[in-house]
Amino acid sequence: MKQNDKVFKLKIEKLVYGGKGLGRHNGRAIFVPQVSPGDVILAEVVVRKSGYSEAVFKRLLEAGESRIRPKCPYFGKCGGCDWQHIRYEDQVKFKRDILEENLQKIGKIKKPNIDEIIPSTSCWNYRNRAQLKVKNGKVGFFAKGSHNIVDIERCLLLKEDIQDVMPKLKKLLAELPTEPAEFHIYSSSKNEVLLKIVYSGKFKKINLTLERIREILELNIVGFGIYKVGLEGYPERIKFFGRDFTYEIVDKFKFRVSADSFFQVNIFQVGNLIDRVSRAAMEYQYMLAGDLYCGVGTLTIPVGRYVHRAFGVESNFSAISDALYNKDINGLRNINFYCRETEEGLDIVKNYNPDFIVVDPPRSGLSQRVVRELANLPRLKKIVYVSCNPSTLARDIALFHTFGINMEKAKLIDMFPQTYHVETIAFLRKVR
Ligand SMILES: C[S@@+](CC[C@H](N)C(=O)[O-])C[C@H]1O[C@@H](n2cnc3c(N)ncnc32)[C@H](O)[C@@H]1O
Repeated sequence: MKQNDKVFKLKIEKLVYGGKGLGRHNGRAIFVPQVSPGDVILAEVVVRKSGYSEAVFKRLLEAGESRIRPKCPYFGKCGGCDWQHIRYEDQVKFKRDILEENLQKIGKIKKPNIDEIIPSTSCWNYRNRAQLKVKNGKVGFFAKGSHNIVDIERCLLLKEDIQDVMPKLKKLLAELPTEPAEFHIYSSSKNEVLLKIVYSGKFKKINLTLERIREILELNIVGFGIYKVGLEGYPERIKFFGRDFTYEIVDKFKFRVSADSFFQVNIFQVGNLIDRVSRAAMEYQYMLAGDLYCGVGTLTIPVGRYVHRAFGVESNFSAISDALYNKDINGLRNINFYCRETEEGLDIVKNYNPDFIVVDPPRSGLSQRVVRELANLPRLKKIVYVSCNPSTLARDIALFHTFGINMEKAKLIDMFPQTYHVETIAFLRKVR
């Protein structure tokens, strides 16, 4: 490759899902990280693939309108954030554009109705949990695209009480007989903190008490657990000390969340998510609601107030135990929960024969079988699809369409400021 094919001036047209910017050089698509639309940069190609190239930016020649100075000193090195160099108001607009493009290109909807963007009340201090990597005395996050740890003192995305926990975790490291691979920290809306110490290999017995860990971390640690990464690559619990759960208060709801259960990470947005999903259940006299991938019942319980009966399906036993407990503490007797992989729970779904369905799957979205079986439910009227991946959402929407289920509207709810991640609530209706 000639030097001028490798290093050249490039104008960034837009951002794409995954966080990179797209520009064109001699008609060829060039993807570059940490740029903003309108930026003119000196780009250097690092990988050439068939049809496109990947480049890094060597120098900023002209800044696009959305470009700002990143607030965090680790930005660019740390892999946690992608878009700190972009004004927050514009981050959400660019996410909207990415969602629209996915719905058009993959979802095959000419003019998708994206009727609301719900920005996060604060674009800092919003995360209630972090998985910190540990190696050779360093505590931090992986650098982008690598397994090198960026040693950090503070993460501005984290909730204030746990924002500067890293130096204290280093003190804890000094008292542990074996260095762990990760620390997982979760602080609830009541500032009750759960800590997981995760090992990937052999480790010696830990003799620290809960009181000592509380003292070292200067946090309201209610419990800590020792975990070991199992054969499937996920941490498995060895032992827990103290309380292994906390509570989340969201508006009028209370949720018990155990150390091994999922809970929405953005403390400012969980109430908005509950509000928009349960408003959909309220707008018509639905009889029976199903919530697939229901977690601790975060959406099932609020939706359950507006229907005769509701049920949730979830594969994580810990989350289902929480959900069963949560329906009781929230005074809802018309809900039941089942611990199943969604595919294995389809018979339960068919037996209930719901007219209203919520799905909130992981990034991989729904399987074709799940889409087909849901679409064929005789009484089905509405699906609320909560998605953290616009590509799989659009793919599933295109498949639902072939079964006579159309997307009426979508709302972008920004769960992950400073990152490229796009969370969407899509509302689908059965038309035939
Ligand atoms: C994005 S979370 C949503 C949880 C819940 N809707 C909420 O708002 O808190 C996805 C949930 O799906 C569960 N899950 C992942 N794979 C699953 C599967 N194949 N079948 C059922 N549940 C699954 C996870 O344990 C997790 O609780």
